[in-house]
Parts: sequence; C-alpha cells; structure tokens
Amino acid sequence: MNATRMAPLLALAAGLLPAAHALAQQPAPGLAATPQMGWNSWNRFACNIDEKLIRETADAMVKLGLKDAGYVYVNIDDCWHGTRDENGNIRPDPQRFPSGMRALADYVHARGLKLGIYSDAGATTCGGRPGSRGHEYQDAQTYAAWGVDYLKYDWCDTKGLNAAGAYTTMRDALRATGRPILFSICEWGDNKPWEWAPDIGNSWRTTGDIYPCWDCEYSHGSWSSWGVMRIVDKQAGLRTHAGPGHWNDMDMLEVGMGMTEEEDRAHFSLWAMLASPLILGNDLRTMPDATRKILANRDAIAISQDPLGVQAWKFLADGQLEYWARPLANDEWAVLVLNRGSQKAHGRFDWSRHDISDDFSKRALDTKKTVYRWHDAWTGKRGATAQPLDLDLAPHGVTLLRLTKN
Ligand code: GLA
Repeated sequence: MNATRMAPLLALAAGLLPAAHALAQQPAPGLAATPQMGWNSWNRFACNIDEKLIRETADAMVKLGLKDAGYVYVNIDDCWHGTRDENGNIRPDPQRFPSGMRALADYVHARGLKLGIYSDAGATTCGGRPGSRGHEYQDAQTYAAWGVDYLKYDWCDTKGLNAAGAYTTMRDALRATGRPILFSICEWGDNKPWEWAPDIGNSWRTTGDIYPCWDCEYSHGSWSSWGVMRIVDKQAGLRTHAGPGHWNDMDMLEVGMGMTEEEDRAHFSLWAMLASPLILGNDLRTMPDATRKILANRDAIAISQDPLGVQAWKFLADGQLEYWARPLANDEWAVLVLNRGSQKAHGRFDWSRHDISDDFSKRALDTKKTVYRWHDAWTGKRGATAQPLDLDLAPHGVTLLRLTKN
C-alpha cells in the first residue's frame, strides 16, 4: 500500500479522523490524503499569464526533478477568463489561451501532472473577471469537461453570501461532475473556515494573502498581505481542525521570491511542519539552483507528506528561539528550531529536560525512556537525543530534525 492510501488508515488508527460520514461529504473522497503539492501562477505572475507559461512550467517541473519530488498540480490562478458565451458557459481569454483549456489539460496530463484552475464564489473574481455566482453547476461541468483536477475558489465580491453555504454549493457542483477535483477554499479565514470547511473542502486558507517578507504587514489600503512570521502566528489554535483530506492552508509559497536563503528555508520548513499545502509561487523556469534545492529537499517534503497528517505545534518559546514538534507515522517525530531574531543565536537544548507531549494526537516524545537518533534535513548532520542539541542558528535560520527510534 502506498503512503497516500495508507494515510487515512493511520489517522483512523490514531483516532484523528472525523466521523466517516463527514469525510464522505468531501468533493471527492481520497483526495489530498497528504497536503497537496504543486505550483500556482499568482505570487509571481499575477494577471500576466498565458498558456505558454503554463506549458513551460509543467515542463520545468518535470525537468528540474520537482515532479519526482512530489509536486503534481500546475494551477492557473486569476485572470485566465474570457467572457461567457450566449448560454452562460465560461470561456478562456482567447488571446492568452488560444488553444483552449482542454488542450492545456492534455499537455499537462501527458507529463504525468494535473491541472488546476481558479474561480470565485462571487459575481466577479478578485481580478475583476467573471466569478461563478449563479453558474456553479455549469462551471463545474465545464471544468470537468476540460479535464481540470483542482479548483481554487476565492471570496471576492460575495456581499450577502453565506460562506459555508457558497462553498457547499460549489462542493456539491464538483461532486455532481463525477470527476475527482480537489477543492481548495480561499476565504482568507474571515468566517473561521476551519470550523465548517473540513467536510466541504480539501483545504482552506486561514489568512489573507502572503507577502515575501519575514515579519511585515504590507498594506494595500483596505486590506493587507502578511509576511511569513505573521502567517505562522495566525495558526495558533487551528491544528486540531486539520488532517488527511482537509488541511489548514497558509497560502502559496514565497520561496525564491526575494527573501534570503535562510528565510526561504525557514518558510519552507514551517509550511512542511504545519502540514500546509506546498504550492510553489516562483518562476520555475528561471530559478537558481539554490532555490530548487530548497524546494526539492526530500527530508522536508517527507515531513510535509507524513501519512499520519498531524500538524506541528509550538512547544516552547525561549527569547528569539521557537521550538516546534510534529508527531510522524511509525513513532517518528519532526522537531524544528527557529531563530525569529535578526541576530545569530547559539543555544543548547537538553532533550531530557523537556516534556513534549501532544493532547491531540496522544503522542509523547519521551527522550528519557527512549533514545532517538536524529537527522538534520538541511545540513545532513546526525546525532542522538542522549546528548543535548547544540544550536547555531543564523538570523531567521532554522534547524529541522527527523527523529527515529534506535
Ligand atoms: C485573492 C487570493 C489570492 C489570489 C488573488 C487573485 O487575493 O487570496 O491568492 O488568488 O485573489 O486575484
């Protein structure tokens, strides 16, 4: 049995799954058993997209080894739309997508990848293109006929709509197509989607948009985008709502979008620890190898894709240092130490002096009873919990360890 198919069983064994009937309500049972991995056009290209970019991105994903590392979805965000025809059927922008979406889906599928698309619960998208309000079933049928595998569904222009109701309508419309289409809710956390979305979508955004900075708020006037630390801080208290098939989405990655390498590594590690979808947001065609290495790090990805599907929690904050733990399948653990500060940090972490136990998963990392060996995802260093961990962290640096029983 492969890891994806095993995930719900492991989670069930650990008592972490909601009732079976709840999962059965999802758009297509079995999707996103681990957090979805792929790429999306928005962070780097915004509305400046066309079919050539999508094809070249699919090619780059294969050529650069990202497909082999686990990335599957190639997602077109806002602004692919043209107008509706006289029967209300949505059409792609004829200048930017002259070959049509079916041809693009075929191109992506021929490379063993999947195609994602974007719409909005309101009458218009955030980019002012036609939204799906009043066309939900029709649009879902169109996407299925095109061979679309993933729908990101946004929340602009939705005055008067009830969020749970609007997302339920689109979930039901997707289900009615009979095609498994991953349903990615993008409601920015405004109506606490973690409370109502686990049986509606495969993931739900928990915050407003991300911005490629460490700890800033970037104001657009009536709304703000958030740096990596701001988004991490907004996850407090949400972990018990997520699990296989239904994830907290911390927004698409900003790795390779202008932060330092240390910050990129920390950002990627935190998204992996918190079981957020890993949706790349940079230009894959031109990225430097240093960025590619971060995105393709097998150890970090294995933590993200752990079949138990339990999100990490912060078990200790000590000045500028934060310590996070994530229980993994087969009695393994992941531990992350983050230096939030802008100065180098040195420290010693004595495992035996800390009680790391999780009420949610009922797991405990008891290094007094059991010695774990550890392996650092970024440096390859190895050690064991019998000795204190010597920390030497760059500003905004991270240590990411996988712990295995001896
Ligand atoms: C919203 C979403 C973004 C992106 C844009 C597109 O801001 O949160 O992720 O999809 O709309 O207009």
